[in-house]
Amino acid sequence: MSEQLYRENILDHSRHPRNKGEIDDPTATYQDTNPLCGDEVRMDVRIEGDAVAEIKFSGRGCAISQASASMLTEMVAGQSLEQVKAISREDILDELGVPISPARMKCAMLGLKVLKSAIYGVPQDDDTL
Ligand code: FES
Repeated sequence: MSEQLYRENILDHSRHPRNKGEIDDPTATYQDTNPLCGDEVRMDVRIEGDAVAEIKFSGRGCAISQASASMLTEMVAGQSLEQVKAISREDILDELGVPISPARMKCAMLGLKVLKSAIYGVPQDDDTL
């Protein structure tokens, strides 16, 4: 896919986020802030057995943060918890497909940090994802 298509994909996800909302009775939930801008992302997960049966995100932020959270919810739907835990920052950057400057890295990683914090049940540091 060309960089132009990746850019259009990011815009599409930020304008029409997938799995946006909240789950009434989530098995795991976490919310955190990008310390650089104050934007927030929350992830609600319903785990059945050892897999993600349902996932929704909410919050607000820039196009990169909202698109990466939206893409992440599509990536992990139906995955096992082990698969979710194995998602790396490179996986997110591959999914975004455009160069992410160091200043925007926390935007890109906010969703993954929040999701892993929810799954592990303890806050994760986005520098070690
Ligand atoms: Fe706030 Fe990107 S500028 S999450």
